[in-house]
Amino acid sequence: MTVAKAELHVHLGGTMPPELVRRIAERNGLPVPDGVFAAPDRFAYRDFLDFLRTYDLASSVIRTAEDYRDITYEYLTGAAAEGAIYVELFASPDHARAVGLDDEEHVGAIAQGIDDARRDAGIEARIVAICVRNLGVEAALRVARWAASRPHPYVVGFNMGGDEQNHPPAAFAEAFGLAADAGLGCTVHAGEWAGPESVRGGLELPVTRIGHGVRAIEDHGLVEELAERAIVLECCPSSNVVLGLYPSYEEHPLPSLMAAGVSVTLGSDDPPYFGASIGGEYELCREHYGFDEELLLSITETALEAAFCEESLKARLIQRARQTV
Ligand code: ADE
Ligand code: ZN
Repeated sequence: MTVAKAELHVHLGGTMPPELVRRIAERNGLPVPDGVFAAPDRFAYRDFLDFLRTYDLASSVIRTAEDYRDITYEYLTGAAAEGAIYVELFASPDHARAVGLDDEEHVGAIAQGIDDARRDAGIEARIVAICVRNLGVEAALRVARWAASRPHPYVVGFNMGGDEQNHPPAAFAEAFGLAADAGLGCTVHAGEWAGPESVRGGLELPVTRIGHGVRAIEDHGLVEELAERAIVLECCPSSNVVLGLYPSYEEHPLPSLMAAGVSVTLGSDDPPYFGASIGGEYELCREHYGFDEELLLSITETALEAAFCEESLKARLIQRARQTV
């Protein structure tokens, strides 16, 4: 498929395929922790919270700046091979800290991976700092303060992931306020593992995008509000179907949200965990929803317009996307 792609929702630690987890563990002299794999080429998890545990375990083999550089480079060059021209990577300072890497090493290594991928594959990328809601408000504030200090020009946004069901957005208002006041773009995971009330809580934060947000479909008034406020949903259909949020692509609300005037983009979330890729998300929309190239290109344009990078880069990327078809 020739249409240019842009991805606003992918967790850097969740981009490592099993083979890369093993390679990184080995070069760091570590065993891959028990419980990470169900089969040599498949991650083990039973449900969403178990997935988060597996994600943390797999991430624990990442130890060095070189690891972060390589994970970034491998993901971006692979995405470029599928036609991606822009990716926003969610980078978690808490995961880096847990293995003794300081924030500057962490971001510097990812930035190096971005620069190398641009040189070799022509893809652009930026970093969105993500906090983990189940680590608590203080940890979220630390990540927000760090991101708000504008530690690197590639750090352009702030996000929150983790256990949505047990940690509603309201408690994190101060962290999001700090990030937004510093000029960072803000987005929050909501309406994935909790219902419309979670999306409503997310909309109280200074966000322009919502991660997933698909369960807004359960509340008609909320869908109208998303459309009116032009809030962009970072939809990840493979992630939602594989994790069991919806039984099939046909029952996924993405087409209904679009029909109601809600802006959507496509993301692979944690690609090898879900058999996903950015190219695959575009392809499944063609296959299951009958989207043509024009509509797919409009999804890319929505993503580029909603991107947190600088305006001049957005303009260049939009021009590039339009030339690609
Ligand atoms: N962390 C990694 N992947 C995630 C997801 N899909 N939702 C929430 N937190 C996450
Ligand atoms: Zn996510």
